[in-house]
Amino acid sequence: MTKLYAVYGASGCGRSLMPVARQQLVRAQDASEIVFIDDSLAEITRVNGHRAMNYTTFLDETADEKAVQIAIANSRVREKIANRLEADGIQLWSIMADNVVLMDQIELAAGAALSPFVSITSNIKIGKCFHANLYSYVEHDCVIGDFVTFAPGVKCNGNIHIEDHAYIGAGAMIKQGTPDQPLVIGRGAVVGMGAVVTKSVPTGVTVVGNPARIVESK
Ligand SMILES: CC(C)(COP(=O)(O)OP(=O)(O)OC[C@H]1O[C@@H](n2cnc3c(N)ncnc32)[C@H](O)[C@@H]1OP(=O)(O)O)[C@@H](O)C(=O)NCCC(=O)NCCS
Repeated sequence: MTKLYAVYGASGCGRSLMPVARQQLVRAQDASEIVFIDDSLAEITRVNGHRAMNYTTFLDETADEKAVQIAIANSRVREKIANRLEADGIQLWSIMADNVVLMDQIELAAGAALSPFVSITSNIKIGKCFHANLYSYVEHDCVIGDFVTFAPGVKCNGNIHIEDHAYIGAGAMIKQGTPDQPLVIGRGAVVGMGAVVTKSVPTGVTVVGNPARIVESK
């Protein structure tokens, strides 16, 4: 059976995740090819040693099974592509680096990308297409929605709920909640790099600073 894997996106995010994708296949002793998909490409080219092509060309490639990691930081774009892949019968592909630490009772939905040095501890539920960049961690009893993005070094402590499409910037630190009262990061909220989040963040707002405060849009 032939399999073809792809990393969707050949910009910074995709080129950082391709080595993670390669590690994933080496661990699985799977010698299949991994290509880049990038819709700005008119013809097949090479990026960092891999064939790169647009989505239409990828669909025309012959393989019994195709699986795609959507390596695009913008979660709305990630969702749109995930829906298109589903409609075309192509699997979402989860990848993780060799040194990722996964502890007990973790439910991780399809399409995740866990970069080097990510740790996910115990009793944690994570939705579709989660991106956890370098050195991020998720502590016990967290619930993370679909299409959530962690930039490098995010510290997500225990009993935190993060709703769909939230974006957590580099080095942000989120205070733990309690089992009765989890700290909630609302749907589509943005936490700025370096923020220290001490209480729940409403849906759709941006917070920055220590302690994190809502930034009014100009
Ligand atoms: C919070 C954030 C989303 C705001 O972006 P933006 O809307 O483009 O905002 P601006 O850059 O116009 O900044 C608006 C103001 O907030 C300040 N600000 C921006 N980000 C800040 C942060 N993380 N902490 C504190 N202040 C911040 C700016 O200095 C500016 O202040 P001023 O009005 O006094 O000049 C962005 O700065 C951020 O932190 N993004 C995450 C970046 C990241 O983690 N990248 C990782 C890539 S892998």
